[in-house]
Amino acid sequence: MSYSTLPESQRAWTFSSWGLPREILALNLSYAVPPPPVRADLLIRVSHVSLNPGCYLAMAAIPPLVRRLVSGNTTYVPEGEFAGVVHLAGPAAPAHLQPGVRVFGCLPVPKLVAGAGTLAEYFIIPAESVALVPPAMGWAEAAGLAGGGQTAINMLRETTLRAGTRVLVNGASGGVGTMVVQLAKSQGAYVVATCSGANTALVRSLGADEVVDYRANAPLPAHLAKTYGAQPFAYILDCVGTQALFVHSPGYLAPDGLLVNVGNFEGAGITIWRAMLNTYLPCIFGGVPRRYAMISTTPNGEKAAGLARMVEEGQLRVVVDEVFEFEDALKAYDRMIARNAKGKIVVKVQDV
Ligand SMILES: NC(=O)c1ccc[n+]([C@@H]2O[C@H](COP(=O)([O-])OP(=O)(O)OC[C@H]3O[C@@H](n4cnc5c(N)ncnc54)[C@H](OP(=O)(O)O)[C@@H]3O)[C@@H](O)[C@H]2O)c1
Repeated sequence: MSYSTLPESQRAWTFSSWGLPREILALNLSYAVPPPPVRADLLIRVSHVSLNPGCYLAMAAIPPLVRRLVSGNTTYVPEGEFAGVVHLAGPAAPAHLQPGVRVFGCLPVPKLVAGAGTLAEYFIIPAESVALVPPAMGWAEAAGLAGGGQTAINMLRETTLRAGTRVLVNGASGGVGTMVVQLAKSQGAYVVATCSGANTALVRSLGADEVVDYRANAPLPAHLAKTYGAQPFAYILDCVGTQALFVHSPGYLAPDGLLVNVGNFEGAGITIWRAMLNTYLPCIFGGVPRRYAMISTTPNGEKAAGLARMVEEGQLRVVVDEVFEFEDALKAYDRMIARNAKGKIVVKVQDV
């Protein structure tokens, strides 16, 4: 297809209400293609999309009225991570982001809320949110780089790692955890990582110095206190949101240590409530005598470019759990909801 032409309609997964993917998502074969981009926006022809647990949770949590107020639309496309080709570039787009160039990235949060997502053949994104795909990188891997990678960067920005700094990574085999292990290792940390037994070899291959099977060693806090109490961690990087890990952390987290959490696997609402208590409740009222930080991802092209550089230098790789065909996106969501992915779950949208 020529870069100057656009089809009138496209295939896209869309929804108009709220609920779980199988309840509300449908494959729309005649969804409108966005108009040509303005300013420094890019119209992307999507190759692959990787799923993010936050996106399906948002599908169930954000009322359609809110999406409508934000976007003015009544039909929405989910997801934010992608790899694809610039199809049209707005007049103010930078010279290196012109039609034909391979890019990857992650939509800014307001676009996610507006439901102008990536699980479609075409979508619009600001040029400042993308970076060039490293030449040797495959499409599926590129689609999985931005979300988990930028979340991992934000987690590590809360830390000061030196050679040998002792770090525990909880949930090391998922989309975020696989990135956190590699980034912490690249900064010289001594990494102890948790995952289930079946993922031990994978997590070791990412550089973890020790791997703890959290199922075989349940309850995990008691095992950590026994094994690491004498040599406590400086940081716990939690990619699951295991509250017990923080509650019992004085047994294995140094007195001036910090737990950084991004996960909400124990429930989104309860995680936010606990995060406030974990952060602010004074010890005299029952607070845990350790520091806690709940952080969120603020994706941008600069961070994405940093990740791409690390891939090119051989310091970082994306673990892809499985690639699903576009028509099978609901199966991909089933896999995501099961919460035992090894790395990123990816949907192939089309050949580009
Ligand atoms: N705040 C943000 O900006 C942000 C951004 C991205 C993601 N997140 C959140 O971060 C969390 C992780 O995201 P993700 O993309 O990494 O999810 P994911 O890829 O779906 O995570 C699946 C992984 O979690 C592991 N896991 C599940 N329960 C575990 C437990 N109790 N202990 C240790 N590992 C466990 C599984 O390991 P096993 O199969 O070995 O059990 C599996 O490898 C989610 O809650 C997501 O919403 C937040």
